[in-house]
Amino acid sequence: MKSVMQTLKDHVSIREFIDKPIEDDLLMELIDTARRSPTSSNMQAYSFVVIRDRQRIKHIASLAGNQKWIENAAAFIAICADTYRLQKAAEIHEKNLAKNFENFLVSSVDAALVGMSLSLAAESVGLGTTMVGGIRNRPIEVARFLELPEGVYVVFGLAIGWPDWQRVKPKKPRLPQEAVTHQETYSAKGLEKHIEDYDHVLYDYYTMTGRKSPKAAWSGIIARRFSEGRRPHLKKDLEELGFILK
Ligand SMILES: Cc1cc2nc3c(=O)[nH]c(=O)nc-3n(C[C@H](O)[C@H](O)[C@H](O)COP(=O)(O)O)c2cc1C
Repeated sequence: MKSVMQTLKDHVSIREFIDKPIEDDLLMELIDTARRSPTSSNMQAYSFVVIRDRQRIKHIASLAGNQKWIENAAAFIAICADTYRLQKAAEIHEKNLAKNFENFLVSSVDAALVGMSLSLAAESVGLGTTMVGGIRNRPIEVARFLELPEGVYVVFGLAIGWPDWQRVKPKKPRLPQEAVTHQETYSAKGLEKHIEDYDHVLYDYYTMTGRKSPKAAWSGIIARRFSEGRRPHLKKDLEELGFILK
């Protein structure tokens, strides 16, 4: 088992898996370990839905934007924000859970924390993972497929399996540390230069790994993919699933 520091230092998203299952006991131990994560006010406002049936993983891959590589994962774990259990707890005392933006945010943060912990625990024992935000492309169909009750949505999925190291790409470089770390107060000094430098570094990385990219490999993709605002349906869909976003 690798240390936390080493596991984080070695992280790379794994989308290339060998055909080998994950033992039940190991998967449950990983989930149980992730459950030690801090959680806002001890609400534990999350749930895991573990999918291992091959046909169901295939369907999940199609729901998550037709990401074919997911089909080869040993398991897909839907990391859900869960306010349903909180509502049930409130009902025991003849109350209702407040439906507000805070509860949406708290449950989403709780889910992100356990999801990250699960990924980290899995990577520490040699498994490979990739988080799958594409699962938010069609939240209502996903909720139906997983039979989620009201007040639960999938924040992201975790595709997990044993890596096929021969096909795994090298680690993706990050923005320079100074671009994301500020001392005492936020400083945007030199930011344009940091972005320009990173555009070059990432372009070289994409060229080396055979991926086509614009010359401005980071800022160009950010501008192209995110200036329009992705998933415009999301707010309405999440409201339909029982979350209040105002
Ligand atoms: C919340 C979240 C959602 C993501 N969704 C996807 C996804 O749908 N498909 C995918 O291939 N990678 C997805 N990723 C993986 C990122 O693309 C990846 O972490 C990032 O490019 C950095 O690469 P690295 O993890 O290999 O260092 C997601 C990552 C996060 C944190």
